[in-house]
Amino acid sequence: MLTESISRDGRAVLNGTVADGTVADGTVAGGAGFEEWATEVRRLARERNAVLLAHNYQLPWIQDVADHVGDSLALSRLAAASDADVIVFCGVHFMAETAKILAPERTVLLPDLRAGCSLAETVNAADVRKWREAHPGGRVVAYVNTSAAVKAESDICCTSSNAVEVVASLPDEGDLLFLPDMFLGQHVARRTGRHFDIWMGECHVHAAISPVELRDKVARNPGAELLVHPECGCTTSALWMVDMGDLPQERTHVVSTAGMVGAARSLGEGHALVATETGILHQLRKANPKGHFEAVSPRAECRFMKMTTPAALLRCLRDGVHEVTVDADIALRARQAVERMVAIGSPGGAE
Ligand code: 13P
Ligand code: SF4
Repeated sequence: MLTESISRDGRAVLNGTVADGTVADGTVAGGAGFEEWATEVRRLARERNAVLLAHNYQLPWIQDVADHVGDSLALSRLAAASDADVIVFCGVHFMAETAKILAPERTVLLPDLRAGCSLAETVNAADVRKWREAHPGGRVVAYVNTSAAVKAESDICCTSSNAVEVVASLPDEGDLLFLPDMFLGQHVARRTGRHFDIWMGECHVHAAISPVELRDKVARNPGAELLVHPECGCTTSALWMVDMGDLPQERTHVVSTAGMVGAARSLGEGHALVATETGILHQLRKANPKGHFEAVSPRAECRFMKMTTPAALLRCLRDGVHEVTVDADIALRARQAVERMVAIGSPGGAE
């Protein structure tokens, strides 16, 4: 029988053991209590005919118990293709909403409803309508890190792994409005050579990974590969260092979290500096146990992603909470933009 409580510092305690063993650059996998907890999670999931989808930034215990771990695009595709009665989304709210839009007949559960996204909060539906009014006939490309209501006002969505292909798929005529992440928008503009308007939003975790931190880590590890998420504030700096010859182009990869896992597999016994949320380190080390992976910023932790604690996942499966729904009218208007997103870009990106 599993008992749960909360430690003095607010962490989940299962059978008297702090259940996540948190360290600065991710979380220790396994450890006391994991097998018992995981057996119970899997039993409850079977009972509900539930599939467990986990984002690459989740705590290691959550990644290790999930049926699939991946990036936003891969998890959206898995949700769309799933025949489970229940989709448990171990991620953040906009991801669960996207799953519900793609699989309206399924029950979608989010273990903690407070798991939001600072980037998604930077733009709302009224903002998009106003932006459109200023650009009659313009097309709106919405990053998946947006609310369902914003998606409903958009022409097409994208994720970090297919944003370049999505923009390149659109005719190069009229205005193009890209929202809400300015660093991803600038990256896409560079890669496509297209000029477009970009919403000035940012993710507090990625924006805080500074160019100074990046330059310092690169200088101290001259032979390392560099894996950078395009939401990072240091992306421009990384590419500038490539232009200046301070970083070799072939060792610099601006990629989604799934792209990082792919790059890890071909690293051999090499060393990679990783500029994104630190939860990814667990997936990278699993993908290549011989490689050496180091966070550019060990402080880069998304508190929203970490709200899916082991105790929250147990509660979710035991009590069937918390269901995520999307207003029927909004879902209908958002579906086309989301379906266009999942159709573009190469498959893969999940385990
Ligand atoms: P990925 O799609 O690359 O997994 O990123 C999602 C996200 O929230 C980045 O902060
Ligand atoms: Fe949102 Fe940033 Fe957290 Fe990703 S890391 S879910 S963009 S707040």
